[in-house]
Amino acid sequence: MNKNKISIVILAAGKGSRMKSPKAKVLHTVCGKEMLYYIIKTSRKISDDITVVVAHQKESVTKLMSSYFDDINFVTQDTDNFPGTGGAMKNISVKNEKVLVLNGDMPLVTAVSLEGFLESKSDIVMSIFDLQNPDGYGRVIIKEGHVEKIVEQKDASAAELNVTTVNAGIYAFSKQILERYIPQLSNNNAQKEYYLTDVISMARFDGLNITPLLVDEERFKGINSKKDLSDAEVIMQDRIKTSLMESGVIMQLPSTIYIEEGVTFEGECIVENGCRITGNSKIINSHIKAHSIIEESIVKNSDIGPLAHIRPASLLEDTHVGNFVEVKKSTLKGVKAGHLSYIGDATVDEGTNIGAGVITCNYDGIKKYETIIGKNVFIGSDSQLVAPVTIEDNVMIAAGTTVTSSRVESGTLAISRTKLRTIENFYHKFFKK
Ligand code: UD1
Ligand code: CA
Repeated sequence: MNKNKISIVILAAGKGSRMKSPKAKVLHTVCGKEMLYYIIKTSRKISDDITVVVAHQKESVTKLMSSYFDDINFVTQDTDNFPGTGGAMKNISVKNEKVLVLNGDMPLVTAVSLEGFLESKSDIVMSIFDLQNPDGYGRVIIKEGHVEKIVEQKDASAAELNVTTVNAGIYAFSKQILERYIPQLSNNNAQKEYYLTDVISMARFDGLNITPLLVDEERFKGINSKKDLSDAEVIMQDRIKTSLMESGVIMQLPSTIYIEEGVTFEGECIVENGCRITGNSKIINSHIKAHSIIEESIVKNSDIGPLAHIRPASLLEDTHVGNFVEVKKSTLKGVKAGHLSYIGDATVDEGTNIGAGVITCNYDGIKKYETIIGKNVFIGSDSQLVAPVTIEDNVMIAAGTTVTSSRVESGTLAISRTKLRTIENFYHKFFKK
């Protein structure tokens, strides 16, 4: 695609009151990334002149998006004097003759689906789709094959409300059209807002032709409520997993698996049913067994789960982590931790076996401390390692030991136990049998 012929303006200044949330609408996430992130990412595939219009929570919106992209122009809308999508288009200056206007609440749009807008020579191209339930969308009034106007739901007459052809919210305008009509918009409507959609009826009145482009709901759906958000999540999940499977990841019952946008896979990987993998996790030649959770971590040549929880900033290599093991901010290389453990703020080296029920006591109620475990260490079941502690190479920790010294030297056995007592006949006396 030719990147230099079109400018893109993304409208992201609105509150999104229908989301019923203190968070700005465009910052709500789909598969781990903000809605606005997706539309900017898609825009960058077709344009290098991208303007994002901000106002509501503009500091957070600008800061977050700048952390992903460094080439976006942010323009602040004067929402006090010029609210609405038309108000958002005031004071925009663009480089190119053609301008694509996108709504920030459309995370599902793909670059390929925008091609139709780029190819048309018309002064105005607008996106439409037909819906069984057009609720919430602007209705597109077409007479004798020509688009006449867009009527917002709140301004629509009973007859207009029955129209099922709606405005999907994406338009391509020539620069002159915007320069001519944006200053002429008024707020004489039910919401007292400046509607971008009024450009259509004004242009039509002047005899200009408006090209409607039929688009599909799956890609052009606007996200206005939390229900819409969860619908988008389902569609996006499907795309993410389909593309991962196409590139070679094996998934069992993919509909039960949740994988976020930033996750990457390399080599032969298997993800069993019910797994959740988030953030920028990287999975390499590994088997993630049923119902395991991996957050923002790297897993290489390892098998995890079933029912394991790998929390952020962990690195697992050549490692086996079994059921009910929680790992947090730890590096495990060549380690076996088969059952029921908590390993936090730890570094564990090759050949080390962590028995069932071993716990790194990393927190004293005020601060967190590190545990360092060397090579070929055997940690018996149900041991507690009170951090900060270093366990050198070739150490044996007896089952049931609480390690309270800060260092256990190489070659030693650490054991802390009360002596076992047995009381004869106690059972029979107590249970009277
Ligand atoms: C808009 C269209 C409607 C269309 C629908 C498609 C208008 C008047 N209506 O309605 O015809 O069917 O999209 O999804 O354009 N925004 C600003 N500044 C504002 C108000 C909104 O930047 O003052 C941004 C929002 O952040 C959002 C986008 O514009 O990303 C659309 O706003 P929204 O309030 O969702 O418009 P709709 O009512 O859905
Ligand atoms: Ca919308």
